[in-house]
Amino acid sequence: MLLVGLPASGKSTWLSDRAGVLSSDAMRALVRDDEADQTIHGLVFKLMRDFLRYRLQLGAEVTYIDATNLTRKHRRPFVKMALYAEAQVEAVYFDTPLDECLRRNAARSRVVPPEAITMLAVRLQPPTREEGFQVIQTVEP
Ligand SMILES: Nc1ncnc2c1ncn2[C@@H]1O[C@H](COP(=O)(O)OP(=O)(O)OP(=O)(O)O)[C@@H](O)[C@H]1O
Ligand SMILES: [Mg+2]
Repeated sequence: MLLVGLPASGKSTWLSDRAGVLSSDAMRALVRDDEADQTIHGLVFKLMRDFLRYRLQLGAEVTYIDATNLTRKHRRPFVKMALYAEAQVEAVYFDTPLDECLRRNAARSRVVPPEAITMLAVRLQPPTREEGFQVIQTVEP
């Protein structure tokens, strides 16, 4: 299950203490002791794909991909892998308005530069069935 949403749109909060979460921030913390380190992006997403591949091979019941997953290009490798494993592929789209994301971001401890969120909002491509999702759930704020 791929979560799709801007920084501070509420993805990790929605997951709360669910099992089966692969989080790009948690992955950064594991290899770098810093969940905000953006200099190891390639490694972090390679690890995300590796973990998903093993989980699918081992028959995990559900895997949540907790990253912004904003564009089709970013989502494609995960979708492809899940389709290849004949798993159900779902998206959870966090349709939180930009100003609400900026408000939540400013109020939390790990503040992302607001101009980065504004820039990402322009690039955001909502998930579609055409890219392989069998189910698309939308979370309204
Ligand atoms: N439904 C909600 N209503 C109000 N505030 C919320 C809601 N969901 C999350 N928040 C708050 O918004 C902030 C950001 O939430 P969260 O960390 O879950 O976002 P995120 O999408 O995981 O962001 P990132 O992509 O940066 O990891 C947190 O402080 C959280 O408490
Ligand atoms: Mg998060």
